[in-house]
Order: sequence, then structure tokens, then C-alpha cells
Amino acid sequence: MSFVDGQVRVRVPATSANLGPGFDSLGLALTLFDELAVEVTDSGLEIVVDGEGAGVVPTGEDNLLFQAMSAAFDLMGETPPGLRLECTNRIPHGRGLGSSSAAIVAAIVAARALIVGGEDRLDDAAVYQLATDMEGHPDNVAPALFGGFTIAWISGAAAEVLRLEVNHDITVFVPPEPVSTNVARGLLPETVSHADASANSGRAALMVAALTQSPENLIFATEDRLHQSYRSAAMPDSYKLMQQLRVEGIPAVISGAGPTVLAFARGISDWTPEGWAVHELSIESRGAHIF
Ligand code: HSE
Repeated sequence: MSFVDGQVRVRVPATSANLGPGFDSLGLALTLFDELAVEVTDSGLEIVVDGEGAGVVPTGEDNLLFQAMSAAFDLMGETPPGLRLECTNRIPHGRGLGSSSAAIVAAIVAARALIVGGEDRLDDAAVYQLATDMEGHPDNVAPALFGGFTIAWISGAAAEVLRLEVNHDITVFVPPEPVSTNVARGLLPETVSHADASANSGRAALMVAALTQSPENLIFATEDRLHQSYRSAAMPDSYKLMQQLRVEGIPAVISGAGPTVLAFARGISDWTPEGWAVHELSIESRGAHIF
């Protein structure tokens, strides 16, 4: 028997990528979670979605979770006769909080847990590589899988990661409308000036130190010249809120490709624009795990 009996449940954190200067590299796991319950059935595919994306996300073979599970089963050389997925989604979609990475990572971890001896056939490095290949960028995948604060990079074709443990108070301000990552990436210029590249590399280095040992530097460390201003046209209200918070000395950035604004502080929910959601969060040290 290759498959385990009964349901496997996975909890996966939301993530925030970039953190200002760490474009496509830095990421944090946050205490906001999606949950996935899966079991092998005799035949067919049943997908039930509750919460974010319910009634909107596909529930057939074009479902992202099913595709990620199928890719993982292929790698492990197994084909389940049927599957049932129950998704409890709390990570908002299209807001820069890593919902697609969370879905991909949760699905691969769940597929692995459904196979007897799955961890021997697909270790964490293989999960990370597969999820990065599917997602396209490692900066949301890494914290979704490993938790904490992650520095992700690609070496050749290999997805690499360094994970660090950090603690900070976080507030995320989530606008009512999504912005597509493709649109946000399309706004970036082909080239940037040496001065901007140099400023960002210094700030990204400072960000690692600020997050791990000197939070008083976060306001400087979160400065960015590579992506946020270029994307402001697609998320003007987010950009304005980020700037207003920064003027007050509150380190704030655009989360991932936006349009959520992430601030390294709590007790600031009075700043929430009308119609937006606000969440006071912490940094989650656990990545996707069975519970
Ligand atoms: N680093 C990515 C971006 C995050 O900002 O486009 C979304 O994958």
C-alpha cells in the first residue's frame, strides 16, 4: 500500500516578500494561515474551498493545489486513484501575501504526507525546488516552506535558502482590490542606474542586520529604489499609505508585488483606509507543517 489511510492536514503561513530592498530575495512568514485537508479516494477529484477564493478559484484539474499535488506525485512515482481536497483559506488572493506560494507549498507537503515513506522520496530541498519551479520566484516559497525570515536565491537552476529566526510586531493593511503580480512586474524597467542598484544592495544588507539585531535601523533598511515607486501607478493608495507611515517614522513597505502595505509595528490600525482590512500579526517561525 503506497498511500496512507485517512486525511492529512497541512497548515501553511502567509508570506511577505521583498521587505523593501530585498527584491525577489527576502521573505517573512506571517501568523495568518491557510489549511488544507486531503485524502486519497477511490476515484475522481473533489475540491471544496471555504474562505478566500471560494466560488472563484477553479475546482477541477486546473486547480493550483491539484496541479502541485500531481507534480509531486509524479516526482514520487505514484498516482492516487482519486483525491478529495478541503481548502480553508484565510490568506487573501492577489494582495502580495503569498497565497499562490502557500497553495503550492501546502499541496506538495500534503502529497508527500499521503505517501508511505514520502519524506524519503521528496526531501525539503526537493519540495523547495519543485515549488520554486512552479511559482517562478523563491522569495515567497522559502518562508512558506521553512518559516521565519528567509534569504532566497537561485544558483544555476537550484533554489537555495538561508533561514534566520526573527521576531517583530507586524501590521498588514490589505486593500479591497487585488493587483496581479504580472501587471506589477510589467511596470518594472529593464535596467536601473548603478546608483539605485548600489543603494538597494546596501539597504538589503542592512535589512538582514536590522531584522536580526538592530530594529532601530528598520526605517533606513526598508528603503527601496528598485520596484516600489515603479509599481505605484498600479497601487497609488498603497504607495501613499506606505509613504505616510514612513514619514511618521514607521518602517513600512509594499508586501511582495502588492498592493498590501506591511509595517514593522503594531497599534497603528487607526491608519487603515476605509474599506481595507487590517491584521496585527507576528512572524511565524514554522513553515508548512502537518497538524
Ligand atoms: N518578488 C516578487 C515580486 C514577489 O515582487 O514581483 C511576487 O512573486
